[in-house]
Amino acid sequence: MSAWWQRRLDELESLEGYPIPEIEEFSEGKLDANENVLLPRSLLMALAHRAVEALDPRFYAVAEARALVQDLGRHLGVEAEHIVLGCGGDQLIDLVARMFLDAGATVVTIAPTYSFYRIRSALAGARVIEVPLREDFSLDLEALLRAARDARLLFLCSPNNPTGNQFPLQELEQVAREFSGILVVDEAYVEFADATALPLLERSANVILLRTFSKAFGLAGMRLGYLLAHPRLSRIFAEKVQYPYPVNAFAVRLARLLLEAYAEVRAAVEIAKREREWMRAELCALGARAFPSQTNFILFAVGDRASAAWRHLAAHRLRVKYIGEVLGHGACLRATVGAPETNRAVIARLREVLG
Ligand SMILES: Cc1ncc(COP(=O)(O)O)c(C=O)c1O
Repeated sequence: MSAWWQRRLDELESLEGYPIPEIEEFSEGKLDANENVLLPRSLLMALAHRAVEALDPRFYAVAEARALVQDLGRHLGVEAEHIVLGCGGDQLIDLVARMFLDAGATVVTIAPTYSFYRIRSALAGARVIEVPLREDFSLDLEALLRAARDARLLFLCSPNNPTGNQFPLQELEQVAREFSGILVVDEAYVEFADATALPLLERSANVILLRTFSKAFGLAGMRLGYLLAHPRLSRIFAEKVQYPYPVNAFAVRLARLLLEAYAEVRAAVEIAKREREWMRAELCALGARAFPSQTNFILFAVGDRASAAWRHLAAHRLRVKYIGEVLGHGACLRATVGAPETNRAVIARLREVLG
């Protein structure tokens, strides 16, 4: 008989883990995780030096974190009582799962989408139902609500990773109204999109919005995100679920300085959007099926040449993400929108395979 902890290890071993790619070095060609190289490193480093000057690492970041919450409230035009900081969107996903799930609970999400909802729900012992998007990437509302009838949590990523599309606010509102559990709307890419689900905050007490500093704000390495929810939910999350001191003082200080320099973030977002549209047109001209995107990445279908295209790009130090078959469109790749010269290199290398 094996000990209980060995059986628990067997159980954990059988769970899906998050696939972290093997990247030997960071470079402009790293286009697999939707980081933002368009925000100049020189700007971030100048702010980082100022953040260091103001830092006393001997203390927990209590006042500094409160100040960031206030700054975010002003930035977004919402009351600060809605906002709770976290150590990246991933930590917030994990803790929301811990807050609402126990063994045997049901979680619903869409497919394809960000895998971490499924991974963390499974760790909490929940059963995960994935409702496929329609072929045009729209929500199958009827199927979604039917699957979610007895569910505790429903995760919707909008704009969605990896499809890139954003779901209409009225549909999210309908889901929030008709679903009897907690609707989590992950807006990791919202700064690159035309709309936001923020209005749901005032209308729906069962909605949690997730945001991150890892994408548009270019701070993936700093591990900083936040959730927005009804004040009661936010308060209970902050007091009972979130760690006492979840975020690090340096990251918080840097984020505050970056909010002050928000014009620079906006400028980088505008470049990303322009580059995204350029890339999509070029990919389509190469015969790929490149889908419209409201994010800083593009999903494109290249069918049976997907593996060859991925390998060819990788051989030239251009790392995109291999997604595989998506809703009948054939095998797809997902490329982060990079610096203009990198995007041109991607297109030139793909031309060698697809052209
Ligand atoms: C949809 C989505 N949500 C959350 C995250 C996690 O972001 P963070 O770096 O804030 O943990 C990602 C990262 O790729 C993502 O794509």
